[in-house]
Amino acid sequence: MTLHPFFLLLALVGIVTGLHKLNSIFPLSMPIIFAVSTVGLLARLLMLRGERRKQVSADAAVDFQRLHAGEVLICAPGIKREMRGHDAAVDQVLTRIQRGLRLAGPGRSLGSFLLAGPTGTGKTFMAQLVAKTIYPEEEPVLLRMNQYKDHADVFTLLGPPPGHPGFEVGGALTRPVLESPYRVVIFDEIDKAHPDVRHCLYDILDTGLCREKSSGKTVHFGATVFFATCNAGVEALRPIWADSSDPLTRTGRAREALARCGFEKPFLARFDEILFLDTLPPVTIAEVACLQIARHWRQFGIEVDYASPEILVEAVRRNVEFSDYGVRQVARLIQEMTTPSIEAARRDGYRKVRLELDAATQRISAAGC
Ligand SMILES: Nc1ncnc2c1ncn2[C@@H]1O[C@H](COP(=O)(O)OP(=O)(O)O)[C@@H](O)[C@H]1O
Ligand SMILES: [Mg+2]
Repeated sequence: MTLHPFFLLLALVGIVTGLHKLNSIFPLSMPIIFAVSTVGLLARLLMLRGERRKQVSADAAVDFQRLHAGEVLICAPGIKREMRGHDAAVDQVLTRIQRGLRLAGPGRSLGSFLLAGPTGTGKTFMAQLVAKTIYPEEEPVLLRMNQYKDHADVFTLLGPPPGHPGFEVGGALTRPVLESPYRVVIFDEIDKAHPDVRHCLYDILDTGLCREKSSGKTVHFGATVFFATCNAGVEALRPIWADSSDPLTRTGRAREALARCGFEKPFLARFDEILFLDTLPPVTIAEVACLQIARHWRQFGIEVDYASPEILVEAVRRNVEFSDYGVRQVARLIQEMTTPSIEAARRDGYRKVRLELDAATQRISAAGC
């Protein structure tokens, strides 16, 4: 709300008249008012200086000592318990992050990984699990790159310049890292992003630094782990992973293959490792189904003590219809198969159940134990 200049003038005249009147009654009032306002002004200036100093130190707030001291815990078994079928890839990623932590310093991130593979094989899931294990107190920055299809979306990522719409909010990548640099950043489905958006990431991946355009602040990625995922190049990558087991050879050949699929070579060169997460075999899908069953029931406060093999076979059999979507559909199938029996189990007050497949109805039945 702005006041009309006339009212401001009126207020000023009022204040001056009042002060003049006060001065004639009490001649010492003017020096006192002057002294009080000078002290107030000085105090405010000192406060602003303190705030600015705090802000500057927050901008550079990567505590490298903490990273070197091994305070960031990496729990490989925890990840492998939830993520099935990609143990070698999990080990490769965690080994690289461990090395990144030991060598952590300004100007480089803790690691950058490009996860390629068919849809629903656990690429985004793996990045999220790594985030949960290394920085459990901070949410990962998950950027769905299919929302960055326009060249102007660079501003969404790095913050629009001052005066442009949304500049107070800052960038979708920069602002969370300014708030806390202990983050895992996930560029999900990076193949869908506009090339200019990928281009603006070159420097960030290279130097571990960037300037947020909105605030002018420097963003430090020294404690960040970068993941990018993509569904491109599956047919070209599969034989590379079949031919060699050496991570260096695989990454080198994967760069060539992905460059032929439209990725810019300088972009691919910025990733420490490229990993290929292929379609899961049926036995792993059965494991995932097991996990999904336990997780689904646990949401309703019921532990699954046993699930019969017939349930898992049925889940795998029905997932084949949706194999183009990877294991993404397993969760939905499990929900569909088990929801009626969850209702019944809750009615009966069961805390722990054994699950069997009813051959006649193809539904799951639960018995308390
Ligand atoms: N290898 C896996 N082990 C266990 N669960 C998995 C695995 N792959 C996928 N899932 C399940 O499927 C969901 C979708 O996987 P997601 O990682 O989003 O696939 P994408 O490879 O397309 O990124 C995950 O949230 C997870 O519940
Ligand atoms: Mg994904």
